[in-house]
Amino acid sequence: YLKVAVIGGGSSYTPELIEGFIKRYEELPVKDLYLVDIEAGREKLEIIGSLAKRMLEKANVPITIHLTYDRREAIRDADFVMTQMRIGLLDARGRDERIPLKYHCIGQETTGAGGFAKGLRTIPVILDICKDIEELAPNAFLVNFTNPAGMVTEAVLKYSKVRTVGLCNLPIETKMQIADVMEVDVSKIDIEMVGINHLNWTTKIWVDGVDRTDDLLFQASGESKFTMQNIPGFAWSQDFIRSMGALPCAYHRYFYMKEKMLKKQLEEVDKVGTRAEIVKKVEQELFELYKDPNLAIKPKQLEQRGGAYYSDAALNLVSSIYNNKKDIQIVNVKNNGTIPSLPDDASIEVNCVIGSDGPKPVQITTPMNAKIRGLLQVVKAYEELAVEAAVKGDYDAALQALTIHPLVGSVDIAKPLLDDILAENKAYLPQF
Ligand code: G6P
Ligand code: MN
Repeated sequence: YLKVAVIGGGSSYTPELIEGFIKRYEELPVKDLYLVDIEAGREKLEIIGSLAKRMLEKANVPITIHLTYDRREAIRDADFVMTQMRIGLLDARGRDERIPLKYHCIGQETTGAGGFAKGLRTIPVILDICKDIEELAPNAFLVNFTNPAGMVTEAVLKYSKVRTVGLCNLPIETKMQIADVMEVDVSKIDIEMVGINHLNWTTKIWVDGVDRTDDLLFQASGESKFTMQNIPGFAWSQDFIRSMGALPCAYHRYFYMKEKMLKKQLEEVDKVGTRAEIVKKVEQELFELYKDPNLAIKPKQLEQRGGAYYSDAALNLVSSIYNNKKDIQIVNVKNNGTIPSLPDDASIEVNCVIGSDGPKPVQITTPMNAKIRGLLQVVKAYEELAVEAAVKGDYDAALQALTIHPLVGSVDIAKPLLDDILAENKAYLPQF
């Protein structure tokens, strides 16, 4: 008997998850799948619920779908609680992406001041969910996909007893992109990733167990395929990749190519709007498709979203915990000395062995160097302060968090930017 609760079940991404459950039914025999949402999302949840039922029926998979607005009912005795909600919905995301641009800062949903605002809104809600889990399903695993996933995971690790794992699709997508460049099947690729969520470096690449890092790095420069649907894919130069000795992740462009990325954002916002506004249109299209009573599979159009393949990340994890597989996956966990230059209680995103008691980080094979350590430490310090601000409603921590962030970098910007963020998000920030 396996019970899974998905919080934010009315998300347009849910068909991804359903497809993942269908693919793995033999190894992951879920009996009850609860999709939870807020009352305001009733219409979406009902559309998703009907589609999910059609998908399961077509595939002949006997998972029972329950739709509910009662989070506690869904969490009670669950084995896994998956969180994928978006506090303030896409309108709040749009504000996160626009406000920083007024101050000539990167406006991004997870990176920089936008991610900071999202963290302030999200962390109180996740800790509230954790209270329900502690009470109603103390042995459950919380599998969190809600962004900013690294900060959300860190808040849960520090302020609750819940066993949690933070997830992102970037590691899996990076592996797929590497397989593509190396022209081999993805099953032959192993990588080592070091860092934190949306700021990690691929430091080693093995093909069939053979170290091919240098070949990959040589081929990776000039390639724009190493990105995500939601991030402009400006190619890395050969000099830069060689000097780095590792492959930066897609989000690193906001740091290492700040001017170019900001210029692009400012142009796009005038032409087509923010990413939130683009995604809103994609979602409308998706929900129109989902309503079709003849549709019983995940539509191709979902691949326009940056989170494509996230169900593989989520359900590979759940299956490895359930089946005690002890395979390696890249997820967000407590540092505990894995990266010695970061605090022990920080969340990091690294290779982990996944067994029935959750992920255990694997020792890193490449020694940490200054090129990686410098940026990593400052962004992690920002996250630490931002988590503290989000939990305690601490203005001073918030001001310092934004000031030290490399994408803000000065108090003359951080202060009015922070006040703007707090005012625009007032309805969602009871802690301030
Ligand atoms: C990437 C990130 C996710 C993020 C998504 C945004 O996949 O890993 O954390 O949520 O992009 O995609 P979207 O289509 O919403 O812009
Ligand atoms: Mn992510």
